[in-house]
Amino acid sequence: MNYLDSHCHINGEEFIDDLDAVLNNMLNNHVTKAMLVCVNLDDYKRSVKIKKDGIDFKIAIGVYPEDTNISEDIFKEYYEKMKEVDAIGEIGLDYHWYPETKEKQKELFISQIKIANQLNKPIIVHSREAMGDCFEILKEHHCRGVLHCYSGSSEMAKELSKMGYYISLGGPLTWKNAKEPIEVVKNVPIDKLLIETDSPYLTPVPNRGKRNEPSNVIYVAKKMAEILNIEEETLLKQINLNYDNLFNR
Ligand code: NI
Repeated sequence: MNYLDSHCHINGEEFIDDLDAVLNNMLNNHVTKAMLVCVNLDDYKRSVKIKKDGIDFKIAIGVYPEDTNISEDIFKEYYEKMKEVDAIGEIGLDYHWYPETKEKQKELFISQIKIANQLNKPIIVHSREAMGDCFEILKEHHCRGVLHCYSGSSEMAKELSKMGYYISLGGPLTWKNAKEPIEVVKNVPIDKLLIETDSPYLTPVPNRGKRNEPSNVIYVAKKMAEILNIEEETLLKQINLNYDNLFNR
């Protein structure tokens, strides 16, 4: 039984000191695939060096919604890396932290979707308190991709899955107050579901309060299998297939 983490940031500074231990925890828990998501160029430099026998790492890079004031030169650097990686992301809209740059965020998001389509690569979408606009953009500018750590309604998740998008759930699915994420799992076809940690953030129960790491994805998978009332092994077979369908084409 093999797990995967479709979204993590173990390429970040939080993991510089004990990355080996984190990678060993992954292996010990059979987490054998992981997407390293870069939100800046330093993350990318570290990502290409992350190697471990028995774990298949992929890399994603994109200009984060925070960075709407990025210079043309730096954008070009990102673009060069985009040609090398497995996915474009995380890109999208964040109206929680950066409500003052909504219009610029939309422009930046759309321009990167166009690049992804041109390079024939999937996108990894970040959307926080912006699902309405995000939905409209994904509807209009069609592409392959996943909504990471999905936090919108189950109805919208269903619509997005019909449009071909994957829906990824993380730690919040296991939290005591989880209601809508549980409905999302029930409403999205199993062949459009993914699991993730978003390490170092959003740690699942029972490790809440600690830094998150990819080995914790096992708790997300267990919870998802429980909600769907299927064997964990059945779920994981499908999740592995979904991940490969999205990122290995
Ligand atoms: Ni992330």
